[in-house]
Amino acid sequence: STGYITLDRGFKNTGSTSSSITFLDGEKGILRYRGYSIEDLAENASFLEVSYLLIYGELPDKTALESYKKEITYHTLIHEDIKNIIDGFPSNSHPMGVLCSLVSSLTAFYPESLDPNRSANEVDQTVKRLIAKMPTMAAWAYKNKVGHRANYPDNSLDYCSNFLKMMFAVPSEEYEVDPVIANALDKLLILHADHEQNCSTATVRVVGSSHASLYASISAGISALWGPLHGGANQAVIEMLEAIQADGGDVQKYMAKAKDKDDPFRLMGFGHRVYKNFDPRAKIIKKAADEVLAKLGIDDPILEIAKGLEEVALNDEYFIERKLYPNVDFYSGIIYRAIGIPTSMFTVMFALGRLPGWIAQWKEMRLQNEPIGRPRQVYTGEVKREFKTIEER
Ligand code: SDX
Repeated sequence: STGYITLDRGFKNTGSTSSSITFLDGEKGILRYRGYSIEDLAENASFLEVSYLLIYGELPDKTALESYKKEITYHTLIHEDIKNIIDGFPSNSHPMGVLCSLVSSLTAFYPESLDPNRSANEVDQTVKRLIAKMPTMAAWAYKNKVGHRANYPDNSLDYCSNFLKMMFAVPSEEYEVDPVIANALDKLLILHADHEQNCSTATVRVVGSSHASLYASISAGISALWGPLHGGANQAVIEMLEAIQADGGDVQKYMAKAKDKDDPFRLMGFGHRVYKNFDPRAKIIKKAADEVLAKLGIDDPILEIAKGLEEVALNDEYFIERKLYPNVDFYSGIIYRAIGIPTSMFTVMFALGRLPGWIAQWKEMRLQNEPIGRPRQVYTGEVKREFKTIEER
């Protein structure tokens, strides 16, 4: 460090805030939302119930949950002009780029969201609109990409069933939601709902600290999540597993690449900034993957390759000494594939799950009146230089 500035690249040892939302213990592999263990919530709660817990701090009673669900269901429709925005995107646009733009476009439809003086307690309507509309925008972006007609939300369905129907219903036949798939999706969204100050949440907080709107802050979070080292890892894991499968399942070759410092290849879905033990979410998802594939009667060779890779890595001293374990992204793609979600939409699923966490953290940051996020640096550039005219250069 120089003088009073201590350099901490990637903020590995810097606490950026105090928060009462999510607790992680990286050594013990513990994750709790508002004090409730992720195991209990994934087993017993619904995603909307968990979103309420994260945003309002308490598990809702029956009355509160019913009215919350009703309000969210009521706001699932999106403005027809959003179709024009989606149509403006080239058909090969990545759905994360489309979603990021659609969320920031909401400030145009709901200008009250731009009022910088609105207290974070007045954003309730904005929050419910966002939770209600993200699945619709995500599904419409996907339908546009595959050239299918967009499906309107069906308010007789629960949150996940509604999303699945918007994603997969086609005009030529009836679409029945499979409860096994809807339940698996609900559990996956719970497991992704919050994770204290990860890259995308820290981004949402920093953008929100300038008093930018909630929509602008969430749009920035979607961009940060898109990166393959963060939420984009779930897509990268499947692409890696498919490459290994295409390569005859040669796990050792990819292990060697992962350990080779001159090779940019990383074992996607492995390692974590905080967890130096198993990511508790990975354990739950691995178990769920076995159950969902069995229930759906799917025998996916990619799952066997993933298990083989995990087995080898957990016994390899490079991974052991660096405490690299499977993270939330390692198995989630296996389930998304099994329930028919296309690879290009995997990170969008992560964003749907992380949305209530981003919202809860943004609200806490604003309610705590956190100062604008503005770190310092250690300067390593040129000392003062005299200007040279173009003739002198
Ligand atoms: C998520 O922060 C969160 O909470 C994120 C998340 C959430 O819920 O929000 O949990 C979701 O993003 C999970 C992580 C998904 N990303 C990946 O699976 C991509 C692969 N993983 C790595 O890129 C890496 O492990 C990170 C990005 C997850 C963590 O990076 P760090 O903490 O900055 O660690 P590092 O890059 O400094 O690695 C430490 C060492 C290095 O080796 P050395 O220089 O010490 O010799 O471990 C090596 C790295 O090269 N390493 C890996 C590796 N991950 C780390 N080597 C091979 N394969 C890997 N996957």
